[in-house]
Amino acid sequence: SKGNHRHYMLKEIYEQPIVVAQTLRSYLQRLDEKVTLPIPEGDLSAIKRVTIVACGTSFYAGMVARYWFEQFARVPVDLDVASEFRYRAPVMEPGGLALFISQSGETADTLAALRHAKKEGQTIAVVCNVPTSSMAREADLLLPTHAGPEIGVASTKAFTCQLAVLAALAANLARAKGRLSHLEERAIVKHLAEAPAAINAALAYDEAIEAMAGTVASARDVLYLGRGTDYPLALEGALKLKEISYIHAEGYAAGEMKHGPIALIDENVPVIVIAPSGPLFDKTISNMQEVMARGGKVVLISDYDGIQAAGEGCVATITMPKVHPLIAPIVYAVPVQLLAYHVAVMKGTDVDQPRNLAKSVTVE
Ligand code: F6R
Repeated sequence: SKGNHRHYMLKEIYEQPIVVAQTLRSYLQRLDEKVTLPIPEGDLSAIKRVTIVACGTSFYAGMVARYWFEQFARVPVDLDVASEFRYRAPVMEPGGLALFISQSGETADTLAALRHAKKEGQTIAVVCNVPTSSMAREADLLLPTHAGPEIGVASTKAFTCQLAVLAALAANLARAKGRLSHLEERAIVKHLAEAPAAINAALAYDEAIEAMAGTVASARDVLYLGRGTDYPLALEGALKLKEISYIHAEGYAAGEMKHGPIALIDENVPVIVIAPSGPLFDKTISNMQEVMARGGKVVLISDYDGIQAAGEGCVATITMPKVHPLIAPIVYAVPVQLLAYHVAVMKGTDVDQPRNLAKSVTVE
């Protein structure tokens, strides 16, 4: 049931501290501060390449994971949406891990891609929320998310749980490849373990986000910008807004703005900038200032320090708790989801059952 919540989507957004903690619990060993997967270590050390395939929101989780696999495990990563992967002629050498991410485990394009990769001799890993699903059954290595049933068509809690599992997988792969000292692994475990409380702190800004949702609800087009792991979040923010509010939205890598999309900017286009403090902050902010100089209405999502440093001139700011860059995409998913939710409610759409969409897409 929806409990006290008006929609399943809102209930599921609010469940995230609990379900992310639940998911992390089965991958993090708090006592010896290690990450563990349900497989023997040796299996991962031989992996030469990771091919990540998924659709929609699950694809964006995979896109975040690419940064982690490259950064921590130094393993080459190929990434594609399932509907393209299946029909281009992807090169999969022996010794590769093919990783499929799916809430439902039944998405037809992803399942077809999985079967193709299996034929090509890849080890099949599946990050999935439904342990009885087709993908879960066909996996060599099943990595469950413990998000519980997701009813709202727009995926929320499955996404943050997927990120939690993928971060653990990246750490485990890094260790198996001898790329992670025990100290570094301890730090990763510590940061991941902080995610549930940080999500909880992010939820405290729900009312503030509701109060500024009008800025976005009245727009015809909305842009989302981010860099690094916040770039997939920009894409996810735009997808969520399109899906449930029917407002046209696009996500861009912040540095790509000047190569075309900046031509769209005028005083009618809200631009949501996702920029937590961290090594990429200054670069993203300079892209944000290029947008402001052209009259764009900027909504900055950052932490207190980021907003102090760059919030002036924004039409609105959303303050997140200060978190380690590793968990920023998990935590910043929350304001992105809440913004789409409140805009949709304001527009009076059917939030849990948006038009033209199905929860599980079983046709190719
Ligand atoms: C977005 C959304 C879809 C799904 C996509 C993949 O909110 O719900 O984009 O993420 O259809 O579905 P799964 O993860 O079940 O394979």
